[in-house]
Amino acid sequence: RTQLRGDEVIVVSNREPYTHEVNDGELVVRRPASGLVTAVEPVMRACSGTWIAHGSGSGDRKAVDRHDRVALPPGQQDYLLRRIWLTPEQEQGYYYGFANEGLWPLCHVAHVRPVFREGDWEHYRAVNQLFADAVVAEARSEDPVVLVQDYHFALLPAMVRRRLPRATILTFWHIPWPNPESFGICPWRSEILEGMLGSTILGFHTRFHCKNFIETVDRYLEARIEHEHSTISFGGEQTLVEAYPISIEWPSPEAAREWPSPGQCRAEVFERLGIPHAHRVAVGVDRFDYTKGILERLNAVERMLEKYPEWRDRITFVQVAAPSRSALEEYRSFRERIERATERINARFGRPEAPVIRLLAQHHEHEEVNKLYRAADVCLVTSLHDGMNLVCKEFVAARDDERGVLILSRFAGAAREMPEALIVNPYHVEETADALQQALTMPPAEQRERMASLRSTVHEFNVYRWAGRMLTDAARLRLRQRVSERV
Ligand code: F6P
Repeated sequence: RTQLRGDEVIVVSNREPYTHEVNDGELVVRRPASGLVTAVEPVMRACSGTWIAHGSGSGDRKAVDRHDRVALPPGQQDYLLRRIWLTPEQEQGYYYGFANEGLWPLCHVAHVRPVFREGDWEHYRAVNQLFADAVVAEARSEDPVVLVQDYHFALLPAMVRRRLPRATILTFWHIPWPNPESFGICPWRSEILEGMLGSTILGFHTRFHCKNFIETVDRYLEARIEHEHSTISFGGEQTLVEAYPISIEWPSPEAAREWPSPGQCRAEVFERLGIPHAHRVAVGVDRFDYTKGILERLNAVERMLEKYPEWRDRITFVQVAAPSRSALEEYRSFRERIERATERINARFGRPEAPVIRLLAQHHEHEEVNKLYRAADVCLVTSLHDGMNLVCKEFVAARDDERGVLILSRFAGAAREMPEALIVNPYHVEETADALQQALTMPPAEQRERMASLRSTVHEFNVYRWAGRMLTDAARLRLRQRVSERV
């Protein structure tokens, strides 16, 4: 907050921080499953300002939102939420089409072929313009701080820059950035890069993604790159390209005091899911997305039961999978494959009253997920490729008893910060199965040692540190701009 004293802050993201739905005349408020929302929302609560997002929560737009401005739940009225409503065609082309069938598989090396359609691109461009217009309309000053979130808005920074040349535009790319060859297959690669270079600061999770981006610009644009300062000059503007590893809001001691004890959480979860008392519990929490390695994880559980028969009828694996982008065939068929694998493994190793895999294919509120984390012996995060991944950080934050073991994919950005986890290659089923065996047999003292170290990292490098570093850099550049204007 101090870095932005007196400055106007505008956030732009596709996903809204809250959905408001009217059910039987009652307003129901929900937080969507989104790493971006988990990270940016606490920052916005601290900064205040305006958040512009795509309104997706309710079919009944009029009942929810008469003025395009929606109040947040009680006690959370620190910022304004301005929703942009899209037509079904725009949503199809911009969100499902170009963003999620094009850019999403393009940037995640997950072996799903990106699809690029001219029509999707047109919608993507038009929706970026719509949001850029909203930023200009919402801005009360000529130099607001605009926080642009993610791959849905690659063109928006340059669009805003043209109309508000003195704005400080911070763009954060929440997903990986691939190497120049991979990115080069995008038919509109130059337009995307030029759009992003309208930013004052361009943030990625890791140095590796920054390096890939700089090399991509070097390959496809006539730009000046200063490697020493990590800056790119293009079209008279300079962009700082930096790594800012995203994180979570560390729970306050007051909030943590209210949590039920791990024993109570365990009793509640076992009771609700009908898990036999003698079982150990492993959990996975994801959106239903082919990048998350859910299938590889199930195969690893199956292999573990083949290889270490002593765990048969002694372990339950609970997979929470929030439905995601289900309008896309790739996502629907992925879900079917997971369901088939679940049935196969349960038929092989489970009993009807005690299945090995419990697939909970619905959205869960944070409080329920937190109980599951506190009840679990092991948490599995096996993304095939992930910008950062915040589930592993949430698991660690939930374990104030310093127990539980984290198994973490080496292909999640978080692996670089969390080496005390059991790091695995999720494509290597044998290795993940062995890690599961190691986790289940890890002595309490070792669990404590690893968990204490992980907790101190996540506590220190929390989401305010992420935002603080970016905003400090922004404040420095703003000051420099003001001084140079005076000269
Ligand atoms: O962090 C990547 C991301 O795509 C966010 O942009 C998004 O909010 C989240 O994952 C969930 O995806 P979606 O908003 O498409 O449901």
